[in-house]
Formats: sequence, structure tokens, C-alpha cells
Amino acid sequence: MQIFDVIIVGAGIAGLNTALNIPKDKKVLVLCKENSWDCNTFYAQGGISVAIDENDIDSHIKDTLSAGAGLCDEEAVRVLCSEGRSAVKSLIDLGFEFDKDTDGNLLYTKEAAHGKNRILHAGGDATGRVMHLFLMQNNPHPLMYKTTVINILKKDDTIYGVRVFHKGKYKNLYCKNLVLASGGIGSLYEFHTNSRTISADIQGLGIECGCELRDMEMTQFHPTVFVNTDKARKQLLSESLRGEGAYVVNEKNERFLFDYDKRGELSPRDIVSRAIFDYKQKNEGETVYLSFENFEKEFFKKRFPTIYYNLKDLGFNLPEDRVPISPAFHYFMGGIKCDIDTRVEGFKNLFVVGEVANTRVHGANRLASNSLLEGLVFSIRAAKTILKNSYDFSHIEFEEDDEPLFKINDKIYKNELRKLMWNNVGIIRTQEKLQFALDRVNELLFKDIGKLLRLRLKTSQEIIKSAIKRKKSLGAHYIKE
Ligand code: SIN
Repeated sequence: MQIFDVIIVGAGIAGLNTALNIPKDKKVLVLCKENSWDCNTFYAQGGISVAIDENDIDSHIKDTLSAGAGLCDEEAVRVLCSEGRSAVKSLIDLGFEFDKDTDGNLLYTKEAAHGKNRILHAGGDATGRVMHLFLMQNNPHPLMYKTTVINILKKDDTIYGVRVFHKGKYKNLYCKNLVLASGGIGSLYEFHTNSRTISADIQGLGIECGCELRDMEMTQFHPTVFVNTDKARKQLLSESLRGEGAYVVNEKNERFLFDYDKRGELSPRDIVSRAIFDYKQKNEGETVYLSFENFEKEFFKKRFPTIYYNLKDLGFNLPEDRVPISPAFHYFMGGIKCDIDTRVEGFKNLFVVGEVANTRVHGANRLASNSLLEGLVFSIRAAKTILKNSYDFSHIEFEEDDEPLFKINDKIYKNELRKLMWNNVGIIRTQEKLQFALDRVNELLFKDIGKLLRLRLKTSQEIIKSAIKRKKSLGAHYIKE
């Protein structure tokens, strides 16, 4: 019987960097739901925010708190911004290469609601992909692919491992410490920018396991997404495009965002998302575009190669063509509550890191490019906490429990859920719509459904209940009174 010191669920930045910070002589296993690239880290474009020097830490904190609209935990934000510099430096020391100018100086770009240019990037607009590859290459521990976690093995306040579905078989994997680093909830929404594997099931398991989930109403929508594709993951057009001069325009090429906020394109993303959504509604669905007319072609191709080639495949010639945009679900600020050392209260050996976690570091609205930084900083903390974690461990075996994961009508209900969430638990909410969505989710939970759909529904139920409870708008949660 193999008992791992640590099992890490998720192979994005949070999971891989936790693994990287645990010595090779520990028995660690990283679980990856599908292929290594099926995670949100891989698709992160803009970059990673980091205070440009010691003097910038306070202003990074201020910008993060201000975007978070009063819901941030100030200690968590201080940890993020002050430990961010050493976390990024440790990657650079390991050999990671951010983009530099011809003199070898790091290039920092600007994104909305940052008072300074403090976003580092790599591969132009492929920061997540380059960083993910680097972490994969440097992870000293084994990775198990195509592994869906279907249960957390727990008794009282102790976790004993996870039950997984792997290559058509169910099995129990046992461990002394469990880290959940499985990402957010994108697949709950009809339009989203997330990897297809990000489907809110681990949050659902957290609920069933007795974890406290917090700030569940705080769902962030990215303002500039090309949604007219039949792929589940819609095409993100990075904030850094607006940071470097792209405009949001209407059909007459007018920059209407200034009618909503004097910061125009550089307003926080919740404001830009709502403005675009509202503008479309008030103007009978008029198309809104992202315009790149300020960019010179060769610069654009070099600085934004991912966007250039992805959009080329979709029939656009950038920067000449403007691209129709819509807001789409992007990031989940809510999650499994934990302390700043990533411990989940009530458990001896359960840790959460990254988007699945809720330290309140983002409050009600995440500041652009703070998520990769969160993944780096809090995974280092998780590894340190785990290495110090001591408790009386005595292994127990768990019964096999093989509730069907899928049932015949799941796909129909899943698609209904996506539309239900988009239309009723989206950018602009009302109590009536939220109640309508909750009633339907409650009904769906009584249908003959598989376990994975039940977990999605449970997460949705918590999101909607929290949204109903918060009667006044705050940050990303906007509710018409
Ligand atoms: C983007 O490149 O716009 C995404 C940045 C983020 O979500 O922080």
C-alpha cells in the first residue's frame, strides 16, 4: 500500500509550484485531470503582476485593495504583494525568462486599475504557457494524467486521500497531506475563457466534505472576449492590449467607455464588463469591438503573437481588423476558505491554493494579473506549511464507493445549467433572476444525474444562494435593486 506524503490535485501554477517547493525525497503525487495543458495557467496571456521594487509594494497593495472593493483581507494582500517579489525572483533564479528590452531590462506592461506598469510577461502574450512549461520541466515529482478526483477520503478532521477515476478504473490514493489546487468554475457558464477541465467539481466536493466556502457570489467577467466560436473556451483578448493602446469602440468607431467611467479602457474590469454589457442592451445588441488601429503591424505580431495567430485562424487580420467582443466569465474570487498559510479550517491536513482557494486576497474583484502571482506566492506558503505539519498519522482503508459519475441526460442538464448561470447569475443580476436560477438548480438536483453533475450543481447552488444574500452591489457582484 503506497501512502504519499502529499497529493496535489491540479497541475496549474498553484499545484506545480507547490510540488516544486517540496523536496524530491518526499513522496509527492500531482494529479492532472486531463492533459498537462488543460489548465487555466496555460491560457493566461497578459502576465504576472509584481511590485517593481520595494517602494512599489505599498502601491501594489493599494491597487489590489481598491479593486477588491473593501472585501479583501489586508494581511493576505500584504503577503501577496510583499512576498511576490521573492517568489518571482526564485523563478528567475531557476532560469525562467521574462521578456526583456534590447539592453536586458525586464519589460513591464500596464493593465487596467494598476497605478504603474508592473506586469511582467513572457513569450509576448503567452506568459501562462511559458510559465507552465517551465514549471512542468522543473517539477521533481511524478504526475498522473487523466485522473478525475471523485471523492475526498475523510474521517472527522483528517483527510486520508482521494478516490479517483483513472483510465476507466476507480481507485483510492492515500496521503498524509492533501492540497487542492484544481482551479475555478468556468464550465458553469455558457461563455467563459477557462480550460474545459475547470468545472467546479472540487468546490462541490469541498461542500460535501464540510469545508466552508466563502464569497461565492464573486464571479469575475473579463470584458474583452471573442465569443463567436463553437469551442467551450472562448478567445481571450488580454487586458494588456488595452494597457498598450487598444480601444473599445461601437459600430461607429466611438469610444463610449468614457460615458461610464473617466478611466475609459483602463477602468477595472468589472466596470468595463458592465459598461459593454449595458451598452449592448441599451443599443439593441449593437456590436462592440476591440480596435487595434494604434498598433504597428510588426510590433503587434511580436508583442501579441498568441492573439495574432489565434485570431488569424478565426479569420481576422490584426491589427487592421477590429474584433467583436463580449464580456465572458473569467475568474472565481470565491472558493474554499483558508488561512494565509493555505490551511482549511477544521482539518489537520487539508490545504487549498490558487483559484480554488479563498484567502480573500482578491476581495470582491481581482486586480488584473494578480492570479499567477497568487499561485506562486501561496504555493510556496503551502509547501512550507506542509513540511512543518505534524500530527499523529495512522492510516485507514476506505470502502469503495462507486456512485455513477455520469448519467444519460447529464449533457442536456449541463448545457441548461450553463445558460441558466449566464442569463441569471451573470454580469447584471436581479433578485428575481437569482431566485429563478436557484429554483431550477434545486429541481435539477432531484433529477437522475451522475455525481460530477451533482457536484457542479452544488457549487452553483452555493453561488446563487450567496448572490441572493448579498442585496447590495459590491465589486464583481452587481445587483439591480
Ligand atoms: C488578461 O490577459 O487579460 C488576463 C489577465 C488576468 O486575468 O489577470
